Order: sequence, then structure tokens, then C-alpha cells
Amino acid sequence: MTKKKILITGWNGMLAYDFIRTQREKYDIIAVDRDACDITSFESILQNISLYEPDIVLNCAAYTAVDDAEDIGMQMCYEVNTLWVYNLARATAVFGIEFITISTDYVFDGKDPAWYFPTDECKPIGAYGMSKYLGEKLATQVNPRTIVVRTSWLYGGNKYGSLTWVFGNFVNTMIRLSETQSELKIVNDQHGIPTSCIDLSFAISEIIENIEEREYVGQFFHFSNSSKEGSITWADFAREIFYSIWKNIQVIECSSNEYITKAKRPEWSILKNNSSIILLDWKIGLARYLGK
Ligand SMILES: NC(=O)c1ccc[n+]([C@@H]2O[C@H](COP(=O)([O-])OP(=O)(O)OC[C@H]3O[C@@H](n4cnc5c(N)ncnc54)[C@H](OP(=O)(O)O)[C@@H]3O)[C@@H](O)[C@H]2O)c1
Repeated sequence: MTKKKILITGWNGMLAYDFIRTQREKYDIIAVDRDACDITSFESILQNISLYEPDIVLNCAAYTAVDDAEDIGMQMCYEVNTLWVYNLARATAVFGIEFITISTDYVFDGKDPAWYFPTDECKPIGAYGMSKYLGEKLATQVNPRTIVVRTSWLYGGNKYGSLTWVFGNFVNTMIRLSETQSELKIVNDQHGIPTSCIDLSFAISEIIENIEEREYVGQFFHFSNSSKEGSITWADFAREIFYSIWKNIQVIECSSNEYITKAKRPEWSILKNNSSIILLDWKIGLARYLGK
């Protein structure tokens, strides 16, 4: 059987890196970065698609600097998360192929301490969330073969996952800080569920494998790791990380008011996965990421 051909953007990022690493046997993957595919150019996207003739475009590229999106990065944020997503959807529509784009829990305001379903109303509270929401909206309007995958509290590989990278993901940041600190202040009033890029990659792969049979085209998915205890806080997450790496670090819980950031974070980010594709429990996902 011929392998499906997937054109993946943002190969340098956490999710794309783990998707390529874990799924490359299964698919014929063409990975493009910002040099190969000019985000501002519809023609450049068309050229890439006509050159490689993918069955699916998987968009993992995004502007993810949530705080800078509020000011210095706002234009770039909307260019990448809205305009580019729109252009990719337009281009894939021209070729009549599926377009999978990754989105976020930040499309919701997070005020409701309940599960957020894919059909719930979006009310982003910051520029990043708004740019992602508009990207979703435009993409689904111009290409009915768009699939939107929303996820939350992502951590994964590549430079963003590296222990030395200054903007490392939460897990690696905790590990790095644990080398020099014996106690850490971590916020306890934001609630969500972490997601390992490895587990998310397998979930996306299940969508790709069953697109036609299960009629996934046009659907919205909510994927985070499973959680027996419902939502957790960043403080809970930090404790589990330290437990997993056998580090005796005291987690001092604090409120978000002690960590003023340019962008407001949703207080409740609990995505309800109402599909039959289930990700592993978050503690197992974390252990696997840590190689335990
Ligand atoms: N991180 C999270 O906690 C989180 C949570 C929920 C949803 N998400 C969503 O999940 C998806 C994957 O996120 P991630 O954390 O894997 O992202 P990431 O690690 O920040 O990587 C983003 C990728 O996008 C590329 N990119 C950024 N600006 C670009 C531009 N102007 N032109 C072309 N490429 C550009 C980056 O390339 P360079 O390396 O060259 O900059 C990088 O390859 C995104 O859609 C994100 O919004 C993330």
C-alpha cells in the first residue's frame, strides 16, 4: 500500500518534531520550514503543494509567544496564526486536499470551571487566542476539508524541549530549575491538562489514517492527555515532574497575581475530548517523555 504523503509546516517546532520522529515510518513526510515556504506568499504555498503533491497538509507552525503577541509580536502573531492559516487553507482547497491545523485552548475565555466542548462558543481573552480563533474560522470557511485539532499545555522535543534552551517547555524548565533550586513558586489557580507532543502525534495520526472511513473531514477535535483526576494546576504538574525525576523540590503554591504577564491566561483550560481517539493518562505521557 502506498503511504500517505504529508506536507508538514513548522518542522522545527515541538509538535512537528515529535510527529516526524514518531510517525515517519507510517507516512511519506515532507517537512518545510519558514525558508522553504514563505508565509506571506500564497504563491509560495501553491508552489510547495504542486511540487510535492501531498495528500494532506499538517500545519504545526505557529506564533506561540503568547506574551509578545500582546504588543511587539502582534503583527507577526496575526500573520502566522491567521493569515498563513487562511492561505494554507485556500491553497489546499485549490487542490481539494485535507488540511489539518493545530489550535489551542486559548480560543476560550476559560472563565467556566467546566469541560470545554468543540462546539462551545469561542471568546479569546488575548491576541494569541484571537489570532488562532480567526485562523480556525477562516480556514474552515475556505476549505471545507479542514480539520482543527485543539490542544493544551503542550510539551515536546527539539530545541524548545532542550534543557539549555531559555524558552524551554514547562517540563524542561522545571527540570532545569531543579538543578539549582530547592523550592519553587508555581501558580495554582490555572487549571488544565498537559499534553505530550508524542501522544498528540499518535492521535493526529489516527485521524489521518481514518479520515475517509470515519468521516473526520470538517471536524474539530479536543485533544489533551487523559486525566483521571480531571483538571490539574501547574503546581500539580510541577510536583509530578519532580516526583518522576526523583527530585525533592518544595513546590510553593501561589496565585497568578504574583506572576504578572502581558497576556492573561485562561483560568480553566479543560478541553473535552468527545471523540473515540483517546490519549494516554498525563502521568504516563509525562513518564514516556522523560524516558521512564
Ligand atoms: N505550546 C503550547 O503549550 C501549545 C498549547 C496549545 C496549542 N498549541 C499549538 O500547537 C501547535 C504546535 O505548537 P508548538 O508548541 O509545537 O510550537 P513551537 O514549538 O513554538 O514551534 C512553532 C513552529 O512554527 C514556526 N514558525 C513560527 N513563526 C513562523 C513564521 N513566521 N514562518 C514560518 N514558521 C514559523 C517555528 O519556526 P522557527 O523555529 O524557525 O521559529 C516553529 O517551527 C501550534 O499551533 C500552537 O499554537 C501549543
